[in-house]
Amino acid sequence: MSDGRLRLGILGSGKGSNFVAIADAIRAGSVDAEVALVLSDVSDAGILGHARASGIPARHVAPGRFRTKLDEESESAVIGSLREAGVGLVVLAGFMRILKGEFLRAFDGRVMNIHPSLLPAFPGLEAWRQALDYGAKVAGCTVHLVDQGIDTGPILAQRAVPVLDGDDAATLHARIQGAERELYPAVVGAWARGEIRVRGRMTSGFREG
Ligand code: GRF
Repeated sequence: MSDGRLRLGILGSGKGSNFVAIADAIRAGSVDAEVALVLSDVSDAGILGHARASGIPARHVAPGRFRTKLDEESESAVIGSLREAGVGLVVLAGFMRILKGEFLRAFDGRVMNIHPSLLPAFPGLEAWRQALDYGAKVAGCTVHLVDQGIDTGPILAQRAVPVLDGDDAATLHARIQGAERELYPAVVGAWARGEIRVRGRMTSGFREG
């Protein structure tokens, strides 16, 4: 099953542009990893279509009875599928459910997320809109490891973008997503090369460019 490359398990609920950016970077040879499995809690999510179109195993997992998290049965199914696929790094790419407890114990220190703000500013939903409504002049995105909190785990990398006069939620979001599509593959690539070190909240080893 394995050629020794890091095996990624990607979880998403939406259109999958971050997944596509990572898969493109793998194809281009700048990320030495393999997408072993894509899972979504949304049966018609674009991310599943993108994965299937490139021949990557992709599966819908019914999330169960909660709105913001997976129920126990669903969480076990996700953990089981990722383990079965030999996943070494879980990459959250627009996954809209909170993962805690059992899941984080199963993949301790090996769950990455991208958030559309410069954390710790604007955690939670629609962070670009929060930045705009606050009057921030700089926005951006953060790649971080996932811990028990919401958008609180150790920061691995950040990229800033300006908030321009005349921006609305859509134009600012698009600019942030452009930054995400470059930053996320770069961080996953550095992780795959073993360059990133994590000691508590302190991380090092990621360099831009
Ligand atoms: C991204 O903007 C990311 O910041 C957030 O969810 C969005 C996912 O977009 N966590 P996509 O599905 O990767 O296109």
